[in-house]
Amino acid sequence: MPEQSDHIQIPRHVAIVMDGNGRWARQRGRPRTYGHKVGSSKVHDIVEESKELGIEVLTLFAFSSENWKRPKSEVNFLMELMIQMLKKEIRKLEEKGVQVRFIGQRELLPEKLLKVIADSEARTRNNNALILQIAASYGGQWDITRAARVLAEKVARGELLPEQIDEKTLAAELAFSDLPDADLFIRTGGELRISNFLLWQAAYAEFYFTDVLWPDFSVDEYHNALRHFSGRQRRFGQTGEQVSG
Ligand code: FPP
Repeated sequence: MPEQSDHIQIPRHVAIVMDGNGRWARQRGRPRTYGHKVGSSKVHDIVEESKELGIEVLTLFAFSSENWKRPKSEVNFLMELMIQMLKKEIRKLEEKGVQVRFIGQRELLPEKLLKVIADSEARTRNNNALILQIAASYGGQWDITRAARVLAEKVARGELLPEQIDEKTLAAELAFSDLPDADLFIRTGGELRISNFLLWQAAYAEFYFTDVLWPDFSVDEYHNALRHFSGRQRRFGQTGEQVSG
């Protein structure tokens, strides 16, 4: 049994791998795309609850670098789903003070989605009630590799010495380097994997894995994850005595 706590400690940054849409649909004899559609409708409640609870950053893994290998019809469906969701929700997100950001390899995304992303980011850039980061065509390895390349280019231009490269200079080139790292990493769908989501930025995250498939993930389930987080002592490499003393 995971440790539970009645007192809810609010993480600053929650990251979620929304897994299990395909299985959820198959269990009902429906196509995988139906699972994605129902799954996308759950995003709204979790965003709303995150804002209500005072979470600063919510990062959702909508499409990974590896998801491009899925059948073209499913890839197209997911791209269109992101476009439709953003178009439908952006006005409310804007009014509610949510700042929308995308992280990932943008040049691979279709033009139509890029336009909606640019519009959503521009319209919400000054909002600060919650930062909603949508990871699309994102992979932790891509993120770290790209940061390494930026540093290599700086070295090549003579702007940086190799010995000046440390955790801080590398972290500064990663996606969302202006935001706190993930405190709580949730994965639905029963798999015990990170699947190339936040690698560097989850270095000290607490992990919460649940068998619940994403289309069944509710606000109550979210609270379970937060209670689980509250029950953990985060030591960041120190001993338990150092942290509590
Ligand atoms: C994983 O389930 C889920 C995805 C690859 C897509 C998740 C995307 C959404 C819920 C839409 C979100 C959109 C926005 C704008 C945030 P899976 O297909 O791997 O399920 P399986 O493991 O059961 O096959």
